[in-house]
Amino acid sequence: MAVAAGFLAAVALASQAHAFGFGLEIPVYNTFPNISSCVSEPLFYSCENKTEIKNTCCSPTPGGVVLQSQFWSTYTGLESEGQLLPKDSWTIHGLWPDNCDGSYNQYCDFSRQYDPDPSPAVLPNGTIIPPYHGISVESWILEFGRFDLLDYMSKYWINQGASNSDFWAHEFSKHATCTSTFDVACYGPDYKEHQEVIDFYLAVVRAFQQFPTFDMLAAAGIYPSNTTTYSLKQIEDALKSQTGAIPYIGCGGEYGTDLEEVWYYNHVMGTEQFGRFKSIDSDTPSTCNTTMGIWYYEITPTSVREVRTEPCAVF
Ligand SMILES: *[C@@H]1O[C@H](CO)[C@@H](O)[C@H](O)[C@H]1NC(C)=O
Ligand SMILES: *[C@@H]1O[C@H](CO)[C@@H](O)[C@H](O)[C@H]1NC(C)=O
Ligand SMILES: *[C@@H]1O[C@H](CO)[C@@H](O)[C@H](O)[C@H]1NC(C)=O
Ligand SMILES: *[C@@H]1O[C@H](CO)[C@@H](O)[C@H](O)[C@H]1NC(C)=O
Ligand SMILES: *[C@@H]1O[C@H](CO)[C@@H](O)[C@H](O)[C@H]1NC(C)=O
Repeated sequence: MAVAAGFLAAVALASQAHAFGFGLEIPVYNTFPNISSCVSEPLFYSCENKTEIKNTCCSPTPGGVVLQSQFWSTYTGLESEGQLLPKDSWTIHGLWPDNCDGSYNQYCDFSRQYDPDPSPAVLPNGTIIPPYHGISVESWILEFGRFDLLDYMSKYWINQGASNSDFWAHEFSKHATCTSTFDVACYGPDYKEHQEVIDFYLAVVRAFQQFPTFDMLAAAGIYPSNTTTYSLKQIEDALKSQTGAIPYIGCGGEYGTDLEEVWYYNHVMGTEQFGRFKSIDSDTPSTCNTTMGIWYYEITPTSVREVRTEPCAVF
C-alpha cells in the first residue's frame, strides 16, 4: 500500500509540475468571472487612453499601473516549521494596483478583509482596519480544488516571521480589493464566495512567471555571492535587457547595499486575470547605493530547499 500511495503522490506531483510549466491547468471548478461584456469594449493598455472606461471589470481602474513585486531573502525565520525559500528563485511578494499618477489605494473592501495583521493598521483618513480572526485563505484554495495552486504558492510565496497564508491573505485584502477586475460585481450572478480570491492568486502566479528574476540575472552573470558585489547599474541593465524597462530595485542594510526587492511596473491590456502585461519604467527611485557595491547574498543553507521537480523524461 505504501508503495502504491507513494506512486500516486509522485504522479500527482508530476502533473502539478506540468501544470506550471507554460500555463495553468484547467480549473477543477471555474473561478473565472463572466466578462463576456468586455468583448465589445475598446482595447487599450491601462493608463494609456483618456477615453472614459465604461466597464471597470474589463481593465484595472483606477489602479492601472500593475506592479509585480518580488523578494530576495536569505532566511524566513520559520525554518523550524519547514518554511523554507525556493532554491534558485526569487519569491513572490504580490501584484499591486498603483493609480496612473503613482498614488495607490489599499484595503478597499472591509467585507473582504482577511488580513489577521493589517499593515498599516489604520488608513490615512484615520479608519482602523479590523484584524481578521476567521479561517485561513488556504482552506478556500482547497475548497476550490486548486491543490496545484496551493502547492506552487507554498513553494514560491514565502513569508518572513509569520505563516505564508497570513501573507497571502494580507496581499489579497490590501491590494486585490482595490483592483477593479476582482470586484465581486464583475463575477455575475453565479459568483461563488471567495472565487475571486483563488482567481487573484492564479493571476499573481501567472504574473510572477513572466519575471524570472533569478534566471534573468544569472543570464547576465549575476549570481548570489557572499564574496562579490555588483553595481546597481549592472542589476538594472540585466533586467532591462529582458523586460524592456527598468524595475524598482530595493535594498536594505545601513548603507542600502543589500539587495532585497524588485518591483516590475506594467500597463495591462484587458483584465489582470487574463490580460497582457507591458513593462514600463519604475517611477520609484531605487533605494540601493549607487556608489558602493550591492550584495546579492547567498541564502543560508538551512533556509533553502529544492522545489523544482524532475522534468518528465519522454513526451
Ligand atoms: C454571462 O453574462 C451574460 C450577460 O452579461 C449572459 O448573457 C451570459 O449567458 C453569461 N454567461 C455565462 C456562461 O453565464
Ligand atoms: C482611445 O480609445 C478610443 C476608443 O477605442 C480611440 O478612438 C482613441 O483613438 C484612443 N486614443 C488613443 C490616444 O489611443
Ligand atoms: C476612509 O477611507 C475608507 C476607504 O476609502 C472609506 O471607506 C471610509 O469611509 C473613509 N472614512 C472616513 C471617515 O472618511
Ligand atoms: C552609500 O554609501 C556611502 C558610504 O560609502 C554613504 O555615505 C551613502 O549614504 C550611501 N548611500 C545610501 C543611499 O545609503
Ligand atoms: C551569506 O551572507 C548572508 C549575510 O551575511 C548570510 O545571511 C548567509 O547565511 C550567507 N550565506 C552563506 C551560504 O554563507
